[in-house]
Amino acid sequence: MCGIVGYIGAKQAYPILIKGLRRLEYRGYDSAGVAMISQRGALNVYKTKGKVDNLTDYCTDKDVSGSIGIAHTRWATHGEPSARNAHPHYSQSHNLAIIHNGIIENYADIKAKLQEKGVAFASDTDTEVLVQLVEYIMSNRSLTLLEAVQTALFQVIGAYAIAIIDKREPTQIIVARKQSPLVVGIGESEFFIASDASPIIDYTDKVVYLEDGNIAVIRLGEELKVMGIHGEEQELKVKKVDLNLGQIEKGGYEHFMLKEIFEQPECLTNCMRGRINVEGNQVTLSALIDHHQQLLGAKRIVIVACGTSWHAGLIGKQLIESLCRIPCEVEYASEFRYRNPVVSKDDVVIAISQSGETADTLAAIQLAKEQGAFIYGICNAIGSSIPRATDTGTYIHVGPEIGVASTKAFTGQVTVLSMLALCMANKLGTISIERYRQMVSELTCIPKKMEQALQANEEIKHLARIFTYAKNCLYLGRGYNYPVALEGALKLKEISYIHAEGYPAAEMKHGPIALIDSEMPVFVIATRDRLYEKVISNIQEVRARGGRVTALITEGDEQIKQYADHVIELPDTLECFQPLIASIPLQLLAYHIAVCKGKDVDRPRNLAKSVTVE
Ligand code: M6R
Repeated sequence: MCGIVGYIGAKQAYPILIKGLRRLEYRGYDSAGVAMISQRGALNVYKTKGKVDNLTDYCTDKDVSGSIGIAHTRWATHGEPSARNAHPHYSQSHNLAIIHNGIIENYADIKAKLQEKGVAFASDTDTEVLVQLVEYIMSNRSLTLLEAVQTALFQVIGAYAIAIIDKREPTQIIVARKQSPLVVGIGESEFFIASDASPIIDYTDKVVYLEDGNIAVIRLGEELKVMGIHGEEQELKVKKVDLNLGQIEKGGYEHFMLKEIFEQPECLTNCMRGRINVEGNQVTLSALIDHHQQLLGAKRIVIVACGTSWHAGLIGKQLIESLCRIPCEVEYASEFRYRNPVVSKDDVVIAISQSGETADTLAAIQLAKEQGAFIYGICNAIGSSIPRATDTGTYIHVGPEIGVASTKAFTGQVTVLSMLALCMANKLGTISIERYRQMVSELTCIPKKMEQALQANEEIKHLARIFTYAKNCLYLGRGYNYPVALEGALKLKEISYIHAEGYPAAEMKHGPIALIDSEMPVFVIATRDRLYEKVISNIQEVRARGGRVTALITEGDEQIKQYADHVIELPDTLECFQPLIASIPLQLLAYHIAVCKGKDVDRPRNLAKSVTVE
């Protein structure tokens, strides 16, 4: 959460910083700010509450000159969203300015000690404590900025990606990271810093991803210098970024979310490319070639993830158990990490994360690693922290997901889990070769079927108007479609702010049925599968209590049409791949309801794309 950007070179920093902030706004957008050192040596900090547009309006009559600067877009943790709590934060003398992504957990102790020494604070944030501490150390121990940052970081408990500038040294930025991402871009006599590579790719494709515990000194006219926590110099690992502008622009769609929903057929084709052979009957995952002993020898599989990725994990569990016959559990990473779970070296832990930066998932990986488990990552963001922390893994390769509500990452994760389960089952001999080939071949047909499902967009747009004023909604599904119900409800909640619950359809009679009346829209995923007849009974139960049913049905199903108020027809596929198709209308429904309500679909309130705090 929070986006950080920085620039040092010969160009004017301000336009580069603002453009970078816009790219990173998905990480947080409750306030934004910039700091530049002007030609005359002034350190100017400007910050506003709200989105980056507010900041640029505010800056129209300000001195934004300077070719060194740092900027920040915030997702509040300590201190309400306000200009006073926005970053950058000055030190007391206004010589230093800092931006920070993460949480300084022991900030209150440090703050109290500094206050005793007479340091005055201008915000309620944990971040300001760090810059004040650095200044205090510099002035009391006559240390350089670098030495003071190193000393301060030893006193700090928590997570951080920071950038700090000193107006007395206008050719230098000091950056550091621990458990929060930070990338340095290397241009021709210029450097860029950012939380991810997207603000950098307009200028250079050469980047260095800092590792945990790294401090880097970025000085004009010198090589980038990266050090470990004790100042020991690190080898410079320069990588080439493989990201193009088209991937991070809206491409004619009104919102990133809509673009990402419509991209799914292409994304899944990319996800399967090189992994399923052209005949479409054989899956190969390099992780399974390189680590077959650990993966196939698993006595148990534990999936850890958060949010939408956790929903994908629930589908993964069903795939793994039914195809590979290996017991599989799915855990919220945030619970797993704190409940002293039993993990052994015979376990494989699968960590699923779009961003690859989710703090709870990273901590769960760490814990499982310490207990000897083999760790497999399923991530989207290339080079992010989770793929680097795992023993092996598979990228979903669906391209950058910018909309805060996850869509294509979900279907990408389910696709990788399907390929993994099929590949393992084939090697373990737990499914017949005929069944294996039939399933792999069906998986390759999913992108075409998704295209067909997307054709219902206009019809769903129309339906969305009916539900715009709903206060509560219920989503029901069974088996593989139960996680789809959870995911549909989550999408609606996060972008339209309508309360929604996902439930296993048969559990409804154990409580939630009390909620049903004519005011309660109920969305039922009722495709033709093993539990079809049972789901019909659940629909009848809702109808009998006056509930309004919208059913997602298999195309051509005339039976449910008699009972439902509205139906959305879906192309038929195997039961285990149904989530890949059925999630599409629910994504579109949430999207159109949110648009009808006038909500900011790509930047819903209180949320951030990448949750790097616990
Ligand atoms: O990047 P991750 O997949 O680890 O993120 C996990 C959740 O924060 C994320 O899926 C969240 O629930 C989405 N906003 C849901 O749309």
